Amino acid sequence: MNNRVIVFDTTLRDGEQAPGASLNVFEKLEIARQLKNLNVDVIEAGFPVSSPAQFEAVKRISGEVDTVIAGLARAKEVDVKAAYDSLREAKHFRIHTFSSTSDIHILGKFGDDRYGKSLSEKRKTIIKMSYDAVAYAKTFTTDVEFSAEDAGRTDLGYLTEVIEAAIEAGATTVNIPDTTGYNFPSEFGAKISELKKKVKNIDKAIISVHCHDDLGLAVANSLSGIENGARQIECTINGIGERAGNASLEEIVMALKVRKDLVKYYTNINTEEIYNTSKMVSSFTGMIVQPNKAIIGENAFAHESGIHQDGMLKDRQTYEIMTPESVGVKKTKIVLGRHSGRHGLKSRLLELGYTISENELNLVYEKFNDLADKKKEVFDEDLRVMMGDESVDKKDEYFELDYLHVNMGTNSIPTATVRIKSKENIFQESATGDGAVDACFNAIERALEIKPQLESYNVRSVTSGRQAMGEVIVRIRENERSFTGRGISTDVIEASAKAYLQALNQRQIFIKMKSEEELLNHTLSDLSQAV
Ligand code: KIV
Ligand code: ZN
Repeated sequence: MNNRVIVFDTTLRDGEQAPGASLNVFEKLEIARQLKNLNVDVIEAGFPVSSPAQFEAVKRISGEVDTVIAGLARAKEVDVKAAYDSLREAKHFRIHTFSSTSDIHILGKFGDDRYGKSLSEKRKTIIKMSYDAVAYAKTFTTDVEFSAEDAGRTDLGYLTEVIEAAIEAGATTVNIPDTTGYNFPSEFGAKISELKKKVKNIDKAIISVHCHDDLGLAVANSLSGIENGARQIECTINGIGERAGNASLEEIVMALKVRKDLVKYYTNINTEEIYNTSKMVSSFTGMIVQPNKAIIGENAFAHESGIHQDGMLKDRQTYEIMTPESVGVKKTKIVLGRHSGRHGLKSRLLELGYTISENELNLVYEKFNDLADKKKEVFDEDLRVMMGDESVDKKDEYFELDYLHVNMGTNSIPTATVRIKSKENIFQESATGDGAVDACFNAIERALEIKPQLESYNVRSVTSGRQAMGEVIVRIRENERSFTGRGISTDVIEASAKAYLQALNQRQIFIKMKSEEELLNHTLSDLSQAV
């Protein structure tokens, strides 16, 4: 049996579903290019029917990134057709369709009588819908994946029937998601092993696993799935995703690589690109990686205690089971500065995994020069946050900070004045607050007449030293939706104002997208009434 494990990356689909992690189309494209450098086998680029922005991102990635591109679709004709329309320019593409299969999901999501009156009737309807969706997808491509959503809590006998039907209709990959992260590794492994025995046509498809991390078991469950016959893993960079996230790509890949003495399974991942990819995803999504995170956390290769340091000096293997270099963490630091030219900057950015056109380089170089004026030494970390900064890519921007003045002292009330530019207007206001950042946020809210709930505020120093840049991540919430913004500056108050405005920009993009969708829905219903 083949021991190679296919890596299906879903950072741009399930990963982007993480609260507040929305990415614009340019960021998605950049990440997709980097996933190609990492050598993933399949990139799930989005859920095309869900919004015009998702459709557009999948289409752009399909046209520009040469690897297998997948698009998600519910088991409905309209979804499958939208997936095909967005993927059709890709050299190789996969339609990924799914249905809910657990009783909890079937009764909760398919309660309407048109799906059947009893549970057993509804179960039959789901099998038919799954079969039809796969068969329809098959009319567009030979590469069709079917997922049984909430398979982790699905009755094994019924799951066997659904999977058998999907393969009969032409599915070439069958995915077994533990959607709610409920299973134990032994239980999940046994499920895969039983399916291998019970599904009559299983030799015609590859078994895939897709595990969520609600109990912190996503990676363990994925590995157990592989040991029991799965040959595709679905995972995300940094483990980002719905709720507690998805199985982390870097952890599964490195577990297989480091323990090749124990298991014979391997992936084709270029592990030296793991660190670059992780940094890019973190800076674009604004989701900070915890310092003690396996493989890519800041402390993953740090040795603090004297005994450990002594051991490391004598023999690195005493406390390191893999080298930092094997995942792309470089020991030697390359420093750029005021005298580095455009060419030097461009080639360093390329090494960090970014692709920039000559036009983009002008904007980036201007920004780099501003930074090099404030900071004598510009490190990789500075470049990464600079590339993740909203002002490098102004295409989606609504509000831009034009002016900020803050007055504060130990015995005075902090006061901030802001001037904000949009395409049509200039807004200016002043406000006081509990501190300088609070005053600044109050002034922004007063100027724009918006008052969302501030969900979280984080500030960190990007590198060390007095001139280090501060990175601020702000998450706001409105009507059950979160929006994240990131700002960087050598001044943390300015970084805070920029981060807040960027979160408000994300909110504007969402509002615009929603109104376009509503307009489209109205037009479609008008058209159907006219017909
Ligand atoms: O978690 C899940 O079940 C999913 C499916 C759509 C594959 O993300
Ligand atoms: Zn999922």
